[in-house]
Amino acid sequence: MKIQDAVINDAPAACEVLRRSISELCVADHGNDPAILAAWLRNKTPEIVASWIAQVDSSLLVAIEHGAILVVGSVTDAGEIILNYVSPDARFRGVSRAMLAALEARAIERGNTRSTLSSTETARRFYHANGYAEDGVKTRNYGTNTGYRMAKSLTAQIVDHVS
Ligand SMILES: CC(C)(COP(=O)(O)OP(=O)(O)OC[C@H]1O[C@@H](n2cnc3c(N)ncnc32)[C@H](O)[C@@H]1OP(=O)(O)O)[C@@H](O)C(=O)NCCC(=O)NCCS
Repeated sequence: MKIQDAVINDAPAACEVLRRSISELCVADHGNDPAILAAWLRNKTPEIVASWIAQVDSSLLVAIEHGAILVVGSVTDAGEIILNYVSPDARFRGVSRAMLAALEARAIERGNTRSTLSSTETARRFYHANGYAEDGVKTRNYGTNTGYRMAKSLTAQIVDHVS
């Protein structure tokens, strides 16, 4: 598996991974509510994903194995992790963990000492296991009431990164 910056041609397949990951894996968040799902998926189109790939102030990364995208992640130059969505076909094989490490490394390269994100209920345990702490603020992304603001100091990784 190789994690790399996405190119525009990755947009349709990356979009499909995002849509399947949300629909099939994030049931604890959307509860199969059609209105929430529609709101969450509305901006997950190949055209909009292509515009995210082209954005200059953030990085959209993909993990690829045998030509298939296993996970889609993105991080802004300010260290906010925006996306980390695994394909249902690749769940619990360590690919989200590998993507998270790549996103944090990119945040460090952009000069950040801290990464932040808004976790789903689905990924909450995963982020705790990977060193994130909740700041107690809940968010209502796309009409869900299961968004958790989290942050992690990257200082220890910065030492590893430069030594
Ligand atoms: C939960 C999720 C993020 C884990 O990622 P993954 O690529 O499937 O799995 P990884 O092997 O990288 O991580 C495994 C970790 O996930 C967590 N995990 C394991 N089983 C889990 C379960 N049934 N439910 C929730 N989390 C679980 C644990 O922390 C586990 O670590 P451990 O093996 O040391 O206990 C992923 O499966 C998922 O559901 N993603 C949906 C999209 C999403 O919500 N993304 C976050 C947007 S903010």
